[in-house]
Amino acid sequence: MKIGVPQEVWPGECRVAASPANVKRLGKMGFSVLVESGAGAAASFDDETYRQAGAEVLDGAAALWEQSDIVIKVRAPMKNPETGVDEADLLREGGTLISFIWPGQEEELVKKLATRKATVLAMDCVPRISRAQKLDALSSMANIAGYRAVLEAAHHFGSFFTGQMTAAGKVPPAKVLVVGAGVAGLAAIGAAKGLGAIVRAFDTRPAVEEQVQSMGAEFLTVKIEEDGTGSGGYAKQMSQAFIDAEHALFEELAQDIDIIITTALIPGRPAPLLITEQAVKNMKPGSVIVDLAAERGGNTAGAVADQVVESHGVKIIGYTDLPSRMAKVSSNLYGNNICHLLDDMGGAENYKVDEADEVVRGTLVLNGGEMKWPAPVKKLAEETKQPEAVPGNLVAAAASIEKKDRGPLVLLLIGLALIAVGWSGDTGFLHQVTVFVLSCFIGYQVIWNVSASLHTPLMSVTNAISGIIIVGGMLQLGGPLDSPATILGVIAVFFATINIAGGFLVTQRMLKMFQG
Ligand code: NAI
Repeated sequence: MKIGVPQEVWPGECRVAASPANVKRLGKMGFSVLVESGAGAAASFDDETYRQAGAEVLDGAAALWEQSDIVIKVRAPMKNPETGVDEADLLREGGTLISFIWPGQEEELVKKLATRKATVLAMDCVPRISRAQKLDALSSMANIAGYRAVLEAAHHFGSFFTGQMTAAGKVPPAKVLVVGAGVAGLAAIGAAKGLGAIVRAFDTRPAVEEQVQSMGAEFLTVKIEEDGTGSGGYAKQMSQAFIDAEHALFEELAQDIDIIITTALIPGRPAPLLITEQAVKNMKPGSVIVDLAAERGGNTAGAVADQVVESHGVKIIGYTDLPSRMAKVSSNLYGNNICHLLDDMGGAENYKVDEADEVVRGTLVLNGGEMKWPAPVKKLAEETKQPEAVPGNLVAAAASIEKKDRGPLVLLLIGLALIAVGWSGDTGFLHQVTVFVLSCFIGYQVIWNVSASLHTPLMSVTNAISGIIIVGGMLQLGGPLDSPATILGVIAVFFATINIAGGFLVTQRMLKMFQG
């Protein structure tokens, strides 16, 4: 099976869909890889390195598209501004295309590809669920964009990020405000902190407060209480009163802030305007704003996509190509995302567009020319709601039960304990039942009060506890077979064993997700 990697034709695009390292990996997966000559030049990958990685380098796009079973690209197919040839026309009849597509905005392109009976997988449609993290290209790119935004700000800012005390004088540290602490925002916080700035951040989703603080930034809030968490881990649109409160907060803060990085976005909507002209005016001359949402209208008054404009002495940067400005790493990570997708689809030998696989289904736009986008939301929404409930571990699974369902469970445990006491008049046994009930109570309190995001570390603790339970259970197994102590001992050993084995399986699955 042949995979083709053409040169990107979008003016100024430096990325390529596969680095030489990705080519090697695709080769190991059983694919033959064709690369258009010069495709990786702008990302510092020359033809010779691709050859050494096992690729066949072809001259000209037409030959490459013609020979490839699967074409992988970064940008959606477009008319080559130099040759006038439309890439969509080059895809062979019944061929497969994997790239960013944005099917919601590219209706004409999707229709055209459908007439060619194409199978199209959109990297911008990968569902945001735990299992699909390794192929989440939007997050890979947003992470790079957040980091690069700080570097662009540093380039235009006329001072240090870190405070300095030198013989020549004192320089205060730069003060950075990050608005929107999603993937890009968190990367920006990390980069700005790394350079020594004082960082504050704001987001409408209270869930990110912990993440912001764990990166050493201050989390800001407004007086109005409104949860901005929408479905699937994305944000929802806020009320006008909340947006007004944000405006007031940022206008006040602006007087003291040197650099603002905005990343606020609600899927499917224009970017909300959060940094008003008054806020820009309130900033000191020489301050810098980097607006990552400039392509979608911008979070900042006066931001222009792809340009640096100056307003009231403040530079507003609206670059929309930040990942392309770090083409080497972004190509490699994007290529990794694609390798993971192809691996999940069976590699070269067992390659299959499996519509029963929810990641493939979510990503699929066309299957043999048949329209598949958007994927039915129900199934995907179910998993995104409870990403932390990892199957295979009893404690983690039990922890995903809604709070309102827990009362009957406690009552059941107490009831069981009382029945057991009535069953035996033995005081030694009564003592053990008391310990059992207390353990259940403490276990309940400990586990159910741990936030779902901490279930992974919790799993290792519960595995250790399960080990103790097994030893305790085994000590009870010496008595008669029908005694309550023996029966409870058997049950304890049984469940604790399941929990430990399940814990190991889940850990193994998670480790696999992070392996190269
Ligand atoms: P994300 O969805 O993970 O993060 C967006 C964050 O904004 C969320 O945490 C959300 O809660 C927050 N938000 C929404 N409304 C808000 C409001 N009114 N006030 C404060 N926070 C609010 O998105 P991700 O992946 O981090 O991307 C962020 C932005 O960066 C997007 O606009 C994306 O299009 C853009 N981007 C830009 C690139 C460039 O080259 N300029 C490259 C890659 C991404």
